[in-house]
Amino acid sequence: MDFQGEIRRRAGEDPRIIVLPETGDMRILEAASRVLKEGFARPLLLGRREEIEETARGEGLSLEGALYRNFLSDRDREDFALALTARRAHRGMTLEKARERMDDPLWFGAMLVRSGQAEGMVAGSLASSADVFHAALQAIGPAPGTEVVSVAGFMEIPRQDRGEEGLLLYADCVVVENPTAPQLASIALSSALTWRTLTGTVPRVALLSYSTRGSAVSPMTEKVREAARLVRERDPGLISDGEIQFDAAVDPGVAARKAPGSPLGGRANILIFPDLNSGNSNFKNTERMGGGIFRASVVQGLALPVNDLSRGTTVETIVDTVAVTVLQAGALHG
Ligand SMILES: CC(C)(COP(=O)(O)OP(=O)(O)OC[C@H]1O[C@@H](n2cnc3c(N)ncnc32)[C@H](O)[C@@H]1OP(=O)(O)O)[C@@H](O)C(=O)NCCC(=O)NCCS
Repeated sequence: MDFQGEIRRRAGEDPRIIVLPETGDMRILEAASRVLKEGFARPLLLGRREEIEETARGEGLSLEGALYRNFLSDRDREDFALALTARRAHRGMTLEKARERMDDPLWFGAMLVRSGQAEGMVAGSLASSADVFHAALQAIGPAPGTEVVSVAGFMEIPRQDRGEEGLLLYADCVVVENPTAPQLASIALSSALTWRTLTGTVPRVALLSYSTRGSAVSPMTEKVREAARLVRERDPGLISDGEIQFDAAVDPGVAARKAPGSPLGGRANILIFPDLNSGNSNFKNTERMGGGIFRASVVQGLALPVNDLSRGTTVETIVDTVAVTVLQAGALHG
């Protein structure tokens, strides 16, 4: 599956305004320039317009069509500070502290999304993931009915007979260390939504364990079994199975022996790991040892889309992440 081409093409059908707060990073300006050229989003750049344009010109980049807001002198700073104070008063947020937050483009950008003046944000090429999450969780927060915000990663592997023509989604790889059963169910349901939104194909969700259907019983396997039950209860139409071992989830031959009658039939395209140790390690294992190619990481479960980059990110990944954010915004706003 041509994931990259497909998300950019589909984003181009309904472009959205996406905030890019880290304009001090040349990779961001280059990505913004490419996005404008491909036409699948309208980047909103934070900072002094003349400075940003001059930097871009110096590198031979065109930012024609971009939007700008100077967060240090913007007309909405005070309104945003007041709104943030109201949202976070229960944790001791004062107007003074909220005003200070507006000096940080991450927080100002998150408030632009919150206020509906932008439809998503992509950040984290300069800021740490924790800082991006603090701004997103506090300014925007989880979607109604969502237990946890998590991160799912798209990986393309050389085997076309696995997942969806070699495309797989792994979760959670970044945020929730040791999810409870309801949290694990929430991660699985968010991942199914992410899959539908970004691939337009049918999700098939495996809740992974070292046990298949009670072959072992312990608190660890029971947690996954309960999460799988909750997933079936909350979305009976979703193709899912658990607790199930990795091989029975992704290999039809093993599935026929170990999990006969599994709705997945050994063709899972979404892999839900029981904790962050296993999710993060498996993702990296597939990439480093299995020839997998990282495609995109997606923050899921927020009320409005904010996606996190890594500080080692590439221009290509930033461009793809903007496309991902456009599609998430489109799914939310209809
Ligand atoms: C994401 C993370 C920054 C959140 O930390 P935190 O200290 O809880 O963050 P905040 O205080 O800003 O959270 C704001 C609110 O969101 C809630 N929250 C935190 N994580 C949440 C999640 N995953 N989903 C939903 N809500 C969450 C908090 O409980 C808090 O609630 P409140 O309104 O009652 O105060 C932290 O869990 C983290 O760093 N995780 C990543 C772990 C890691 O190092 N990963 C790297 C692997 S590559």
